[in-house]
Amino acid sequence: MRPIPASWLTLRREADHRAREHSLPLLDALVEHVGHRESVELIDIGAGTGSNQAWLAPRLPFEQVWTLLDHDAALIGETTSAEGHPRVLETRRIVAGIGELDGLIPEGSSPVVTCSAVLDLLTRAQAGQLARVVADRRLPALFSLTVTGDVALGPADPRDRTVAEAFNAHQRREGLLGPDAVGVVTDLLREAGCRVVTRATDWSLGPEQAPLIEKYLRDRADVVVEHDAAAEPEASSWLAARLELLARGGLSLTVAHTDILSLPAAAPAVPAAEAAGNAAPAADRAPDPGPGPEPDPGPEPDTAGR
Ligand SMILES: C[S@@+](CC[C@H](N)C(=O)[O-])C[C@H]1O[C@@H](n2cnc3c(N)ncnc32)[C@H](O)[C@@H]1O
Repeated sequence: MRPIPASWLTLRREADHRAREHSLPLLDALVEHVGHRESVELIDIGAGTGSNQAWLAPRLPFEQVWTLLDHDAALIGETTSAEGHPRVLETRRIVAGIGELDGLIPEGSSPVVTCSAVLDLLTRAQAGQLARVVADRRLPALFSLTVTGDVALGPADPRDRTVAEAFNAHQRREGLLGPDAVGVVTDLLREAGCRVVTRATDWSLGPEQAPLIEKYLRDRADVVVEHDAAAEPEASSWLAARLELLARGGLSLTVAHTDILSLPAAAPAVPAAEAAGNAAPAADRAPDPGPGPEPDPGPEPDTAGR
C-alpha cells in the first residue's frame, strides 16, 4: 500500500477534529463505560502523526498511558504527541501492523482500542482480526472518522458522480474495504456480540478551508486516472472546473464519515449460589442474557441527504 504523506495528515487535522465534535456523545458513553480507574491504557492503531491522541487526550477525564501503533515507521516518528498534557502519563510508539495487535496486549489488561481514519484502509481479513481482538478480549473501542464514500460538492456537477464511482472503486482495490468499512466492521462487531453505536462525523468544508479542498480534489482526480487512464480527459476538465469555482469562493465540500463505538456485551449474570462459591451444575445455570442494551449515545444526528 502507498504510504500516507505526513503533510496530508497535517492538512486534514483541523477538519478531522472539528468533525469529531459531532460524536462527543460516543465519547461520553466510552468514558462512562471505563468508569473510575486510576489510569487507562489506550492503543491507537494506525496512529500516523498522532492526530487521534491529540484530539482524545484532553477530552478524557482520567490519566492515560498511550501506545501509538503504525506500520509506517516514518509517520510514527513524526508524531506530534499529546505527551505534554498533564493526564498523559506515557506515550509509547510501536512500529507494527494491525495483525500484531493481539500479541501486544498483555493478558489481563483492558486497554481502550482506538483509531481514526484507518478502517477503510484495512482488508476484510484485517478487519476480522481487529473485531476478534475487541470482542474476544471484551475491550471498549472507538473507531473514528471512517469514510463512507458519500461526497457532495456544492454546486453539483454532472461529472461528480462518475468521478465518485471511479474513486470508490479504487478505494476497494486489492481487497481493501474502502467505503464498505463501516458496514463490514459494525457487522463483525455486532455478530461477535458487541454493543455498537455510530455517529456521523462529516467534514463540512467551505472557502475558509480552500487549501484542504484543493488538495482533496487534486488527489481525487489523480486517483481516478490511476484507476482508469482513459478517464484522464474527463478527470482533468472536472478538476479544472472545480478549482476555478473554488478560487472564486463558490465551492463547498461535504465528505461523509462515521464514528463507531463498540462496548463489550454485558457480563453474563452470575447466579447467587455460584457467586458465593457454591456453583450450580452447568445445566441449572441461568442462560447467558446475550448482548446488553446498546450504549446510549444521545439523540441521533441529522444524517438526511446522505
Ligand atoms: C489516513 S492515515 C490516519 C492517521 C491518523 N490516525 C490520523 O487520524 O491522522 C492511516 C494510517 O493508518 C496506517 N495503517 C494503515 N494500515 C495499517 C495496518 N494494517 N497496520 C498498521 N497501521 C496501518 C497508515 O500507515 C497511516 O498512518
